[in-house]
Amino acid sequence: MEISYKLKSKSDRRSEPFKPTSTLSFGQLRTDHMFLLNYEDSKWQNARIVPYSDIPVSPGAIAIHYGQALFEGAKAFMHEDGEIYSFRIDKNAKRLNVSAEILCMPQLDEELQIKAIHALIDVDRLWFPLQEGASLYIRPFMFATEDSLGVHPSSKYIFAVILSPSGPYYPAGFTKPIKLLITKKFHRAVSGGTGAAKAAGNYAASLRAGEFAKKFGASQVLYLDSENKYIEEAGAMNHFHIEKDGTVVIPEFTDTILRSITSESILELQNVLGLKVVQRRVLLDEFVEKIKSGEIIEAGGFGTAAVISPVGEYIFEDGSSITVGDGKVGKYTKKIYEYYTGIQNGKIKAPDGWLKKV
Ligand code: PLP
Ligand code: COI
Repeated sequence: MEISYKLKSKSDRRSEPFKPTSTLSFGQLRTDHMFLLNYEDSKWQNARIVPYSDIPVSPGAIAIHYGQALFEGAKAFMHEDGEIYSFRIDKNAKRLNVSAEILCMPQLDEELQIKAIHALIDVDRLWFPLQEGASLYIRPFMFATEDSLGVHPSSKYIFAVILSPSGPYYPAGFTKPIKLLITKKFHRAVSGGTGAAKAAGNYAASLRAGEFAKKFGASQVLYLDSENKYIEEAGAMNHFHIEKDGTVVIPEFTDTILRSITSESILELQNVLGLKVVQRRVLLDEFVEKIKSGEIIEAGGFGTAAVISPVGEYIFEDGSSITVGDGKVGKYTKKIYEYYTGIQNGKIKAPDGWLKKV
């Protein structure tokens, strides 16, 4: 499918490379354009890049009432050659279709998704933020637009892509480990539900838990399975911990856990990292005991926005807490972070196909 272009006039759009004067936050800024594609009459049509603006939707749109909406999150990086590279974008395109299947939304050709994302970055390439640690965050999303109050899968959708020149998700970045609240009160997903999809509704459902966590001085909740036995996720990240011998443990992907591309990447990198990376179900009680006994020495979260975020402390609802190791960024976490961001930034050779030049 060909993409049509209706661009802002040259005088209305960025004309010079973007050099932020203060540290960029995550997700606040937008670029000049967006990509749009409509699904109607059982087919995708009208691929276009247009100025960033509001999207008119009917007040009866199914996405607004029944939450039939999904999204993806990816990043692009600028290397020393001045070129922009998207990172593992094929994995995001594939996962969008997994989410679409779970939410009864139409499949969208993965090559077309990548073409749309690259075309948009190309148009707005001057928006790439020239700042240490910053990147271009890519947000593809799809939502149901049919005007209907009956609960059924929509017959109309919009797929869109917007870009956000961004800094780190957690403002203190990698240097200051975050705190997580261990609570049995809130759950992100249950088996048979939409936990494995990047469904907008999963994030709406997580807000109350996130606000609750803040009351305890924690950034987020450590999500458990619905029986409060196993560790599942760390807010909008997969969870990991590292044992004394350097073994990295990521909870096994179930239908209540988002299949993190960061986790999958760390699993694939285990040989070059020289670390064993395994997936298995992680019992909460055992996890807590092993932190207390010093058998678990590091922990954290994996995710595109948050990259690798060390966790220094777990807080319980009675106000007590346990510190992981010495509460600081551990040597294994640091090694993983440096290797992973080294690949993204082009300083370390990436496995074939991970980076695609825009
Ligand atoms: N789990 C949840 C619930 C998320 O929202 C995210 C963020 O994308 C992740 C895990 C990490 O996934 P990825 O590494 O693909 O960004
Ligand atoms: C990402 O890591 O890309 C995410 O989608 C997390 C987000 C909810 C900020």
